[in-house]
Amino acid sequence: MYQYQKTGIYLAQIPEDLKEYAVEELKSLGAEEIRGTYKGVYFKADKETLYKVNYQSRLIVRVLAPIITFDCHSDKYLYKTAYNNINWEDFLSESSTFFILSNVSNSNIRHSKFAAQRLKDAIADYFTKKYGKRPSVNNKDPDIYINLFIRNNKAIISVDTSGGSLHKRGYRKQSVEAPISEIVAAALIKISGWTSDKFLYDPFCGSGTILCEAFMHVTNTPSMILRKRFGFENLPDFDRKTWQKVKEKAINKIKEIPKGLISGSDISETAVKATLKNCSLIDKKNKIIVKRMDFRKLKLKKDTIIITNPPYGIRLKTEEPIKTLYKDLGDFLKREIKDSSAFIYFGNRELIKSMGLRPKYKRIIFNGGLEGRFVRYDIY
Ligand SMILES: C[S@@+](CC[C@H](N)C(=O)[O-])C[C@H]1O[C@@H](n2cnc3c(N)ncnc32)[C@H](O)[C@@H]1O
Repeated sequence: MYQYQKTGIYLAQIPEDLKEYAVEELKSLGAEEIRGTYKGVYFKADKETLYKVNYQSRLIVRVLAPIITFDCHSDKYLYKTAYNNINWEDFLSESSTFFILSNVSNSNIRHSKFAAQRLKDAIADYFTKKYGKRPSVNNKDPDIYINLFIRNNKAIISVDTSGGSLHKRGYRKQSVEAPISEIVAAALIKISGWTSDKFLYDPFCGSGTILCEAFMHVTNTPSMILRKRFGFENLPDFDRKTWQKVKEKAINKIKEIPKGLISGSDISETAVKATLKNCSLIDKKNKIIVKRMDFRKLKLKKDTIIITNPPYGIRLKTEEPIKTLYKDLGDFLKREIKDSSAFIYFGNRELIKSMGLRPKYKRIIFNGGLEGRFVRYDIY
């Protein structure tokens, strides 16, 4: 029996700044005994909950199933343990493709890449010896991701039950410069507390990430509805019937929304095209309205909230026009948002002061390594 089978305990990787929301989400999906660790949480789950978490979570990066934990003081020992103590055909075959993600710190083995290399050798040699053929490495779309974590000379080898980062929802077929991460967009929607009693508008929709996440949130569409293959399907105790049940239950809970509950616009034609394409993959009935427009010319419906991520100048270089854009945005909110709220994600916090509005709160949220601010404005 492997470790996760004995304990029922999995590790959810979560960005540090989103942990409290992700823990709430995990609980709502049925996870138990949630216990924090660096950049993640351990949780206890049966198979149904594990599949549900992978299919429906919006804030988790991936879920690992630990196969084995052992003291590991040298690369030789890593190789030997991986070679001797795991029946690798329980997880993959000689014709599979795999990829190892590794993270090593404060240990005799110094380099993550080297550790991954040794684990790869052990798996390859295991198959070559037994079958005369070995699985090959594929870093783009492997059949299985294996995770190696070594800290203070303790190693954990896990299978990635998600089958690649869960931010890859599958709808981003076209992109723009500086898109927001899908997980961050989902977090912004969650934190804003938006519900269907208000219209939601994104005036800088880019490739439509916030619109897509808002749509999935309000319609109960599973975040991973487009993913074809999950890592948990490689586990030796994978239960297809339970997986079918999880999918059916979730799909039965999808709700319809009125056209125009969610809308957005962008000044760039390429961005509008990207948004239309991306949204069409999840919003099959075209309920999301998208148009090309400078935000300054927009007229918004009463009872609209804004959730948006305007350009932030990192790539624009010129500070002056971008400050003007934020001043104009402040004026636009004063004019168009009455008795409602706007939630703005600032990639560059220096720009908050150009808005000329008093924030209700500011929260630190990272997007792709940049420390941004999520700011709420209540306008009366
Ligand atoms: C940071 S990107 C938004 C990215 C988006 N959240 C995504 O995930 O793809 C900012 C967007 O603002 C748009 N933009 C810049 N100036 C604008 C303006 N005056 N009116 C409307 N959109 C504008 C840009 O074309 C760009 O797509």
